[in-house]
Amino acid sequence: ATRVASVKEVAKEALSRVPDRYIHADIDPLVCNSPSLLPQVPVIDLSSLFSGDHHVKETELRKLHVASHQWGFFQVINHGVRGELVDKMKKGVRELFDLPMEEKDKLWQREGEMEGFGQMFEASENQKLNWVDVFYVITLPSHLRNSHIFPNIPMPFKEDLEEYSAEVRGVARKILEGMAEVVGMKKEDVKELFGEGTQAMRINYYPPCPQPEDVIGINAHTDGTALTVLLQVSDVEGLQIKHDGVWVPVPPLPHAFVVNIGDVLQIITNGEYKSVEHRATVNSKMERISIATFYGPGREGHIGPAPSLVGPEKPAQFKTLSVPDYYKGFISKEGPIKSYIDLLR
Ligand code: SIN
Ligand code: FE2
Repeated sequence: ATRVASVKEVAKEALSRVPDRYIHADIDPLVCNSPSLLPQVPVIDLSSLFSGDHHVKETELRKLHVASHQWGFFQVINHGVRGELVDKMKKGVRELFDLPMEEKDKLWQREGEMEGFGQMFEASENQKLNWVDVFYVITLPSHLRNSHIFPNIPMPFKEDLEEYSAEVRGVARKILEGMAEVVGMKKEDVKELFGEGTQAMRINYYPPCPQPEDVIGINAHTDGTALTVLLQVSDVEGLQIKHDGVWVPVPPLPHAFVVNIGDVLQIITNGEYKSVEHRATVNSKMERISIATFYGPGREGHIGPAPSLVGPEKPAQFKTLSVPDYYKGFISKEGPIKSYIDLLR
């Protein structure tokens, strides 16, 4: 298979028109952009979730519950990851995407693998493409890392990435702990289902585009893992989520992460929390960068409704699969299956 060009390189050439493979005829335009009607994605204060003050804690847990049930998305503030480390990440990812092509080549996706620089997904030669370059890497546990990608990440970014991934894993687990408490899921269930967990990161680089209405940064999709923690690196809007039938922008909020529920957590909570569709749009003036950290069950775990959330009045809404079987079914020959979760009902 021939390698798909880097969009960053394509963008340098495409001064007025972009190649046909990037033009999508079917982009849903229903964006809510009337500021007075614009629903606001909930903001959760992570430090309040663990407050010693019972009332503060209960109030925040309720907010977390409503956000997870009704929105599937929220932003978290006071998450405990040092601003200095976040700034190093922001600098590091810019430098990563600014590497000369010869250096990027060494970190390029190999045939049949997902890690490294590459495109979102390429199943066939005539498939429409997204206006994004990605760098995908498995971060934890470290023995699952691809031996020719992670070790070759330039310093000092590699070290910062290592530290950031460990910190964000902590944030994800804290959020899961809060969710488990408020949704009524036993701690043992979380332990049993997740094991030590696995984590991967995808850095998304969206160059400016001369025809932003005709291309899409990342197609509408739901996330396949349990929890996604997203850092919007640049202060540029692009992320939109489907809420009450319209696309709602999620503007970057200083010192915040955007967190969303993936299919796995919808299954584990037996449908209580929702994996919501989202997409990334692009603009004609500014590049946009985001870092998505995906947290999910470890290979030794399994994926199915938590036993503590299943009972006579709430039968299991999804099948239970081993983790490898779940991910085997996730990707078909044509690419990721759009509503995979529905096949597991
Ligand atoms: C995604 O990973 O779904 C894209 C998020 C973003 O770039 O804001
Ligand atoms: Fe996503």
